[in-house]
Amino acid sequence: MRTIFVTGGAGFIGSAFIRYVLAERTDVEIVDLDALTYAGNLENLAELDPVRHRFIKGDICDREAVMAAMPERCDAVFNFAAESHVDRSINSADEFLRTNVIGTQVLLDVARMKGVRRFVQISTDEVMGSLPEDSDEFFTERSELRPNSPYAASKAAAEFVVRAARETHGVDTVITRCGNNYGPRQFPEKLIPLMIANAMNDEPLPVYGDGKNVRDWIYVDDHVRAVCLAYERGRSGEVYNIGARNERQNIDVVTSLLDALGKPHSLIRFVEDRPGHDRRYAIDPTKAETELGWNTRTSWEDGLRKTIDWYRDNQDWVSHIRNGQYRDYYKTMYAARLESAL
Ligand code: NAD
Ligand code: DAU
Repeated sequence: MRTIFVTGGAGFIGSAFIRYVLAERTDVEIVDLDALTYAGNLENLAELDPVRHRFIKGDICDREAVMAAMPERCDAVFNFAAESHVDRSINSADEFLRTNVIGTQVLLDVARMKGVRRFVQISTDEVMGSLPEDSDEFFTERSELRPNSPYAASKAAAEFVVRAARETHGVDTVITRCGNNYGPRQFPEKLIPLMIANAMNDEPLPVYGDGKNVRDWIYVDDHVRAVCLAYERGRSGEVYNIGARNERQNIDVVTSLLDALGKPHSLIRFVEDRPGHDRRYAIDPTKAETELGWNTRTSWEDGLRKTIDWYRDNQDWVSHIRNGQYRDYYKTMYAARLESAL
């Protein structure tokens, strides 16, 4: 058996990765460290094989906890743990720098001490900033790092500490940079699940600015397959951009969701924009396709249908979240915006 150490496995993408590995790599067992912040949810890990998946509650910034949890000479560390929501980073950046930068450094230090074979850092296209609208420019692995939000800056800093661990200490590292994920179990602070949850409850849908910002959407299972292949086939020290060639304006995403749910477009409210709002993300995934032999398998139409079906069938999952601290979050982020909506 190979053993891998996953952080942030109770979150949206980390839990999808764990399900993928348990199903597709039967010789792998997983130790999963997650602090269970507001975004971590044990319901995301329900019904997993308790022999091949061991969950440990702990913080990646806590060196002793990481030392105790990370198995000696394990095959790989996959660092999914992060503060991941741009809007929260605009309100306060502290937790973003702590988890995303210090936490990554702690994991790298411990991985080196434990003789881990490979360190896989889950990064984001947002480290490369924003592309001009209506251009044919794409993010490639050679694009400059130009982060615009505190979240993106913390993820860019994390990439630099990963690079430094490789250059200085010879740690075997691979970095993946993916675009906007969607799919089951995404916390309803992000665009797609927030809009689905609001629409299902006949509540207004807050679209920032003119709604014409462009994101490059990928179904989460396609992303996690790419991460797995980057670990297995990626070249040491390399960065791989992961994207589905699926650019969409936000307003088109929102209207597609309303149409699929049979809800009226009159639920849409154009609200005050996000400060520093990146205009366009678009990824050129050629390197991942050619070097990793990776391709997307889920079309936008199928992915949206599967996502909507999941939220419809799992309304308890959504209401457990919406009944908790989320109410305060939603009020802080949206009450004033919605009151002064156009
Ligand atoms: P998420 O917010 O759903 O989950 C993050 C998980 O990390 C949660 O389970 C949380 O409890 C855990 N966590 C947070 N701080 C921790 C700490 N200090 N110690 C241990 N665990 C901690 O995030 P996600 O959307 O699943 O994103 C996972 C990773 O993928 C992140 O690194 C993110 O930057 C990256 N990413 C996300 C997207 C996207 O579209 N969501 C796209 C590209 C890259
Ligand atoms: O590109 C990858 C990144 O995608 C990841 O690294 C981040 O972790 C992830 O959160 C995501 O960042 P975005 O800021 O692009 O995602 P978000 O879902 O917050 O917003 C998507 C777009 O929708 C963005 O242009 C802002 C807009 N939006 C978002 C929300 C929450 C709205 O118009 N209204 C909203 O209420």
